[in-house]
Amino acid sequence: MLEEIIVEAPAKINLTLDVIGKRTDGYHELETVMHQINLVDIIRLKPSREGISIRTNSPNIPSGKDNLAYRAALLVLEQYPRAGGVEIFIDKKIPVGAGLAGGSTDAAAVMLGLNRLYNLGMDTGTLLEQGAIIGSDVPFCMTGGTAVACGRGEILTPMPECNLLNMVLVKPDFQLSTAAVYGALDLEKTGFHPNTTAFLEAWRKCDIISIACRLGNVLETVSIKKHPVLENIRQEMLDLRALGAVMSGSGPTMVGIFADRKTAAEASQWFTTRYQEVYLVSSYDRGDGNEQKPFIAG
Ligand code: C5P
Repeated sequence: MLEEIIVEAPAKINLTLDVIGKRTDGYHELETVMHQINLVDIIRLKPSREGISIRTNSPNIPSGKDNLAYRAALLVLEQYPRAGGVEIFIDKKIPVGAGLAGGSTDAAAVMLGLNRLYNLGMDTGTLLEQGAIIGSDVPFCMTGGTAVACGRGEILTPMPECNLLNMVLVKPDFQLSTAAVYGALDLEKTGFHPNTTAFLEAWRKCDIISIACRLGNVLETVSIKKHPVLENIRQEMLDLRALGAVMSGSGPTMVGIFADRKTAAEASQWFTTRYQEVYLVSSYDRGDGNEQKPFIAG
């Protein structure tokens, strides 16, 4: 058996996010384009005789059952009692409560990692199904790349890869609860909806100008109303030559898309003097046909 396995857990952003309606199960029906970026947590998994332990370098995430990575491990290991336990170490780089699926991607990495560590033989369909039990974003975090997500976010249609996007992420100094943002959404009063079809057309053409013009997120109506600083950040991004800017997920991280790395780097430097959490990122490059990704070792 492997002594240790190391898995990359990339963050996701939403390039578009449309809410179609409210469902009877309390969730919202979505149409959203998700995209993996190279802001990455590193997950180390070591087999143990029994039980699940979580260690992390971050003071901001729980180490027990409230951690999605813990719940993911529990869900898997309960079904394979002969496998044993696991020690999980999370090297946290993705900001917490930021709209970047930081918890979901750690959970996804744990499931993929356990499957390999213990040779459990869970196929892709099973992994996606079990991931959706842990959270709506977990299936996308498993498949990665770029995808249109429907349902509550778990029904995925993969999109072709496009040129690597150059982006700056700015997360202001507060967190937002996804449940609270969805809870405050009043669909009757939501005038704006992104044009997902037009966005996808631009995406297929890899037309970066049209892509940037078609960004949009219905949840901005809640989060920006409550925190007008987000609109300031968008304007600052545009002043710094972003082609477009949008809030990711339920926020509060704002994403600016730039024509090239140099312009993005200049904007990132400017933001760094004003905000604590600023990230110069690009799309997560899984490497063509690289079967190894997201595994680094094991
Ligand atoms: O699926 P997940 O646990 O990540 O969702 C967190 C919360 O966000 C849900 O409890 C729900 O309140 C809200 N949500 C929603 N509709 C979605 C996804 C999430 O209302 N499609």
